[in-house]
Parts: sequence; C-alpha cells; structure tokens
Amino acid sequence: MLAIAILAAGKGTRMKSKLPKVLHPLAGKSLIERVLSCTQGLKPNRKLILVGHQANLVEDSLKNHKDLDFVLQQPQNGTGHAVQQLRPSLEGFNGELLVLNGDVPLLKEKTLSSLLKFHKESNASVTFLSANLDSPAGYGRVFTDKSGLVKQIIEERDCTNEQRKNKLINAGIYCFNWQQLLDVLNLLSSENSQNEIYLTDTIGLLKKALHFEVDNPFEIKGINDRIQLSECEHFIQEKLKSSWMRKGVTFVDPNSCSLSEDSSFGTDVIIEPQTHIRGKCSIGNGCHLGPGSVITNSTLAENVLAIHSFINEAKVGNNTSIGPFANIRPESKVSDNSKIGNFVEIKKSFIGEGTKINHLSYLGDSVLGKNINIGAGTITANFDGKSKHRTIIEDNSKTGANSVLVAPIKIGSHVTIGAGSTISKDVPDKSLVVERSKAIVRTKPN
Ligand code: UD1
Ligand code: CA
Repeated sequence: MLAIAILAAGKGTRMKSKLPKVLHPLAGKSLIERVLSCTQGLKPNRKLILVGHQANLVEDSLKNHKDLDFVLQQPQNGTGHAVQQLRPSLEGFNGELLVLNGDVPLLKEKTLSSLLKFHKESNASVTFLSANLDSPAGYGRVFTDKSGLVKQIIEERDCTNEQRKNKLINAGIYCFNWQQLLDVLNLLSSENSQNEIYLTDTIGLLKKALHFEVDNPFEIKGINDRIQLSECEHFIQEKLKSSWMRKGVTFVDPNSCSLSEDSSFGTDVIIEPQTHIRGKCSIGNGCHLGPGSVITNSTLAENVLAIHSFINEAKVGNNTSIGPFANIRPESKVSDNSKIGNFVEIKKSFIGEGTKINHLSYLGDSVLGKNINIGAGTITANFDGKSKHRTIIEDNSKTGANSVLVAPIKIGSHVTIGAGSTISKDVPDKSLVVERSKAIVRTKPN
C-alpha cells in the first residue's frame, strides 16, 4: 500500500507574494502541478494534499484532478505539524507514506520509484532523498554514523558553523513506513529557531533511517524565493530548447525565447529573438516566428510567417503571413495562403483562403470567404452595446479603405465597397456599393 502526501500549506514567506508559493508557475505550470505530475506512474492508493495558507486557491487550481484528498493544516506550524494532520485521513492505513515538498518541482518520477524500491529492499523505517551540493545554503544538513544510518537532520539555521560545512543535504522527499512514523509523530517538539514542528526531527527518532542520494542534484532543487524560481525556469528552458534544436528547430537567440513543454515543432522552424510559445501549440514545418511574437494554445500549419504578432487560441493555415503587429485572438481560423498585415486584429473569425487583410483593420465575429481584399482601415462594428453580431463577406469581394460594416450584415460575392462607406444593410452579389455624403467645396474668403 502506498499513500502520497504533498506538503503545500505553507505561505512561502520568502517569495514575498500574494500568491501561495506552490502556485507560482514554471514554464506555465504551477509548482504543485509539477510535483503532482511526477507521481502519476507510481499508482498510489491515496493522494493527499496538505493545504493551509490560501487553501481555497490551491484546491481550486487542482480541481481537474479528481483523485485528490485535501487535508487542512491550520495554522501552519511546520512540516512535522503538517504530517501530524494526516492521522485521521490515514486511520488504519498500513503501508508506505511518500511525503513530497510542494516546492521541489523538478523531481523525476524515476527517482521516486528508485527511492521506493531502495526503501523497501532495505526494510527501512524511512528513506529520504539527499544530495551532495557545492552550495548547500538553505537546506537541512544530513548527519550519518559510520554505518551509513542517518542520525539527524539539522536545519541550516539551527546548525553550528561547523555543522553548516556539511554539504550533504535533505531534499525534502521522504518515504516513511507509516506505522513506524505514527509511533514517533507525537514526540516532536518545536524547540528550534523557527518554533515550528519539523518533520526532519522524526529522522533521529526512527529505528532505521537511510538516505538515497540523487544522481542529478538539480532535480531536487527547492524553491524558496524568486531567484531559485528563475534558476529552475532557466533549467527547464535550456533543456527544452536544446532538445528542439536537436530535432531541427533554429533559435537565433535562445536566451531571449521561452517555450512550453506541451508545444511541438516541425523541422526547419526558425524562432527569432523575443518569441514565446505558450500553452499547447503545434507549429508546422518551415514556420518562421518572430522576432517579438507570442503564440499561445494555437496550431500553425506549415510555412507560417509571424513577425511581432500575437496569436492566441487560433488556427493558422499553410503559407500565411501574419504581421508585423497583428493580433489574432481566440476562436479564429486563418486559412491557407492568406495574409494578415500590420495593425490588424482578428477575433472569433474565419478567414478564407487567399484573403488579404493588409492594414489597420478589426474583424470580429466574421466569416470571410476566399480571395477577398479587405481595404486599409476596414472595421466590423460587431457590438451594439449589448450583443455581438456577425459579419459575412463572400468570395472575391473588396472593401474600400475605411469601410465600416455594421453587423449583423452580409456582403455577397464579387462586391466592391467604396472607400469611406458605412454599410448597415446586406449587399447582394456582384454589386458596387458606396455610402458617402457629397463633398462640399467652397472657395475660402482670402
Ligand atoms: C525543508 C526541510 C529541509 C530541506 C528542504 C528541502 C523541514 C523542517 N525542513 O525546509 O530540511 O532541506 O525542505 O527543500 O522540513 N509546509 C506546509 N506546512 C507548514 C510548513 C511548510 O505544508 O507548516 C510546506 C510548504 O508549503 C512547502 C514545504 O512544506 O511546500 C517545505 O516547506 P519550507 O518552509 O519551504 O521548508 P524549507 O525551509 O525549505
Ligand atoms: Ca523549501
């Protein structure tokens, strides 16, 4: 039997943030999501999340996970106090309890399964992950006897100068035999510099405490402040970008770009500086993105060029050109061979094949056919103050510069709209429509 408990009740004082620490994102995913995702394959019988500080926010952020039990720790008197709160939930439980710190987000599932295996094989009371760090600052130090049994973990702030030199640190990931832990959980005190009940004090009280050193110390990096948060972000980004470079993606200046782990790229994609790919994106072969583009939750087919543009929750077809300075907003689809030019905003619209919207336009709630030319400054007036209305423009039509299309409206095919017109009635196929008052020209007196 295996139960997993993730400690996520703390405030994260050192983050200096309104947001609970475990909700801070790394490459778009919260710390707690990351910790949770590395337990997926372990198939535990129970998953418990210790919440306390802003418990509602933390619970809310995990509402898509149906297999979690939330345990409230109020007030937050330390990691040992947190684990004490599990007693009612784990009444009668007989097995191993894997305790994970909610602020150690780079951990790999493989490391956890090796820890569990080692723990079981050595029949230990507790086995926890450790690492030998060149800069152990901030971590609890691990002290062993000659036989390798762990005698004590001492928090850095409670260490003497001599003890602080020890570079073997506690990663905050423990596998306990729950029944043996129960026997010592009552004995913890809060006699330490923080007046907290430390989970680490159980180590010295348990019969057989072992540590299991990780291969890659970066994996167990804990996040206590924003410097460590940015170090972890950098680590994730480096790894992601290198792996895509190996698969045929060029980054002109990788340090200035960021990717999400849930995005995928074809080959011969070029990513120029200051370009960010967020959420779940699929980027086809030969796309050229940036400089200065942000693509979020979107699908780009092949050979899309997007310079200095935002594309959010949209689909963009083959051989299209977007920008510079275009904003493609959610629920838009831009079809093959079309062109969205500078200072154009598209929202919840379908743009047909070969259609061009080259300059200074807003198209919202619209359906545009094929081979349309939208003149500079064409605007769909889609909102009447209460509701949004649709604009339909059929194949091969043209709108003149500064046309306003007052929705709901349907413009037929092969229509030409004269520049400067405000059109609020449907226009039939193959017609020319102009709505413009007559210019008055008078000679100026002197
Ligand atoms: C802890 C360990 C330290 C270890 C380090 C590894 C203790 C006493 N110390 O220190 O030995 O080297 O992790 O990263 O455990 N939390 C609660 N309730 C509380 C307090 C904390 O749920 O009352 C949660 C926090 O939300 C956090 C985790 O426990 O996710 C760790 O707490 P934190 O205060 O960051 O512990 P460290 O000082 O880093
Ligand atoms: Ca920590």
